[in-house]
Amino acid sequence: MKITVLLIIAYLLGSIPSGIWIGKSFFNVDVRKHGSGNIGTTNTFRVLGPIAGSIVLFMDIAKGSLAAALPLLFNINFGNIHLTELIFGLFAIIGHTFSIFDRFKGGKAVATSAGMLLTYNPILFILATLVLILVLYLSSMVSLASLCTFVFVTIVALVIHDYLLATIAIILTIFVAYRHRQNVARIMQGNENLVHFGIKYKH
Ligand code: G3P
Repeated sequence: MKITVLLIIAYLLGSIPSGIWIGKSFFNVDVRKHGSGNIGTTNTFRVLGPIAGSIVLFMDIAKGSLAAALPLLFNINFGNIHLTELIFGLFAIIGHTFSIFDRFKGGKAVATSAGMLLTYNPILFILATLVLILVLYLSSMVSLASLCTFVFVTIVALVIHDYLLATIAIILTIFVAYRHRQNVARIMQGNENLVHFGIKYKH
């Protein structure tokens, strides 16, 4: 019973559509109707600017991180605490992408997955963030940087023999690539939206 309730809480945490709520509450703007139409950090930056984008980034990371920490906070263990953290994190990621507050639609799972990683392995989270920033700096594409970062986490997990994380990372890489299928098509066509440091977007 306690486990079921906590898994539902993890899903509901992930379901919080921060981009939609911040946009509607403070800017009277529905980010789903502007830019890429995504509800995540990148599109919130694009549509509403750096302050709103930063808040959404913080909230989306916090959702995944807090959900993955629920088993630690409430003493839940499915026999392997790392597996337990990842399962709770996955519930938040499912919530983020199939949100009960957004008619079971949602975001592309990048920041919420990052939050799960933050709880699971903070050092790898920092390394992954550096890789994302590097690829973003080199390519000016958040989508490409995000996808490369998922591949990086998968490779590191394999190298350090964390096969549990590697398995989840492979599944998430495929899932996130699917969520980014329109971005991937634009990358191939050479017309993906670009971001430049200084937070100015080219469309
Ligand atoms: O996390 C989403 C990002 O990788 C791409 O966002 O709005 O450019 O589709 P967007």
